[in-house]
Amino acid sequence: MKTFIIAAVTIDGFIGRDAKQPSSQWTSQADKRWFGQRTKAARFCVMGRKTYETFNRPLAGRILLVQTKKPIEWQKKQAPIGTFVTVIDDTTNLMQLITASPTQVWASKLPIAQLYQRLDEAKIEELAICGGSSIYAQWMQANLVDELVLTLEPIVFGQGVKLFNQSLTSKLRFIEEKKLNEAGTRLVRLGVLRN
Ligand SMILES: NC(=O)c1ccc[n+]([C@@H]2O[C@H](COP(=O)([O-])OP(=O)(O)OC[C@H]3O[C@@H](n4cnc5c(N)ncnc54)[C@H](OP(=O)(O)O)[C@@H]3O)[C@@H](O)[C@H]2O)c1
Repeated sequence: MKTFIIAAVTIDGFIGRDAKQPSSQWTSQADKRWFGQRTKAARFCVMGRKTYETFNRPLAGRILLVQTKKPIEWQKKQAPIGTFVTVIDDTTNLMQLITASPTQVWASKLPIAQLYQRLDEAKIEELAICGGSSIYAQWMQANLVDELVLTLEPIVFGQGVKLFNQSLTSKLRFIEEKKLNEAGTRLVRLGVLRN
């Protein structure tokens, strides 16, 4: 399974002003288009519970795996707003579940290494790691990220939520850079040199 971090980042390295701010409030149209296109191609997206709650709805054509320490409680909270959440544990038959619908929300408290193994065994080809800060950092720390796909937005926040919320030592190699619009939004792809 190929894994990649997908994030929109300010020039000074932030992914949000605070944990509740939806990225759509400050990212460019070009980034929104890119995010939709790239995550639909991957089909499988993992994200933290706080990031999911910044938009709080399923995304068409994608399976969103939400990491939370309390998946059963969270499943109950989502039900009244009409979102059906499947809790993923050791016993879930993922291959069968994947075929049920192209648009789904899953929740899990499985440790990251175990989650990766389960998804890999279910023959998932690509996994988009969609943040936030704590999720990006933990997947990097676990040495389970192949690539960083960053949209650099020409904006500064001065302070806010950093791309990673813990100290990391990973080394990267440049793959490509692309201009996304005339305002200066750039897409940068970097490979992670695995330890
Ligand atoms: N610009 C971008 O591209 C982008 C992308 C994504 C997010 N963001 C921004 O990032 C901010 C949110 O990031 P964040 O770091 O504060 O929160 P987050 O990573 O989205 O979510 C944190 C939550 O995820 C759950 N979690 C984390 N690690 C876990 C683990 N190992 N096992 C099980 N559950 C785990 C916990 O949920 P429970 O508390 O329920 O246990 C934790 O409170 C927002 O501002 C958002 O807009 C920006």
